[in-house]
Amino acid sequence: MKFRLVTTSDGSASLHADDLDERFHNPAGAYLEARQNYALPALALLKSQGRLDRDDETLHLLDACFGLGYNTYAFLQALRFERHATHPKISHLKVTAIELDDEPLSLVPQILSQPCFASIKDDEQSDATPRLDLDIKQEDLRKSVQELLPNSLDLIFHDAFSPRKMQHLWTKEIFDRYFAALRPGGALFTYATANAVKGGLLAAGFTLYKTAAVGTKPPALMAYKPADADLDASFELVSIDLSKPKSLIPFKDPSLSADRQDIEKRRIEEQALLDPK
Ligand SMILES: C[S@@+](CC[C@H](N)C(=O)[O-])C[C@H]1O[C@@H](n2cnc3c(N)ncnc32)[C@H](O)[C@@H]1O
Repeated sequence: MKFRLVTTSDGSASLHADDLDERFHNPAGAYLEARQNYALPALALLKSQGRLDRDDETLHLLDACFGLGYNTYAFLQALRFERHATHPKISHLKVTAIELDDEPLSLVPQILSQPCFASIKDDEQSDATPRLDLDIKQEDLRKSVQELLPNSLDLIFHDAFSPRKMQHLWTKEIFDRYFAALRPGGALFTYATANAVKGGLLAAGFTLYKTAAVGTKPPALMAYKPADADLDASFELVSIDLSKPKSLIPFKDPSLSADRQDIEKRRIEEQALLDPK
């Protein structure tokens, strides 16, 4: 794929995928988006669950579509800052990162040399915790999800290109694998709010909550795997318009190998069956 470096409005660097005509980030800011849609709501969830107070805790994160790595590094930075502020005891952040293309990966050192990540650079010289244990798998996400172990993850960051262009990365079958892989009380974070995405996440068993609205986008999503204990009341549920069931029909790909045009076509056919007029 052909990529072009761009600068977003908060001054942080990003990429544009020319073949797809897709941006890597919200034009309001790559760093801003990583913090608002991924790092801060994930931190808020952990705090509300008392997860920052447990001794020697290791957190397990799947960073799906890692790209330039903003979401993992913004989250690591937020956890470390929190540690300075309130001494949480998390010792390790174990990240499995999935990324198909090597070009964004080759730019990660450049991304980390920006002023917004200065604290990460400083931490390299110290024994800052949590320590990052990063395992980058350069492969198709649809293969990776088939290898996830049940109840093995605390958090998922899902940051694929838009569902308009990449239907195969927003299917119910991927969300089903995610749901099984998360522990109860775990959650997935994503920027996308298309009804096909919400419908797929709901069908997989998630409960949907709002996170921040970045730039001109609507509030983003936290898809939560219910647990015995109730979720803190500060999280706001997404209201779902059940009077339009057609729009909530998810993208489906039972073999996890269909091409995106076929997935789109299948959804349109299913919508027509629901309302043949
Ligand atoms: C929106 S960008 C991700 C931005 C990234 N989270 C960051 O902070 O820079 C989408 C990424 O998905 C990757 N990608 C595209 N198809 C993929 C696939 N089938 N499996 C895994 N990664 C894929 C692209 O190479 C691109 O890096």
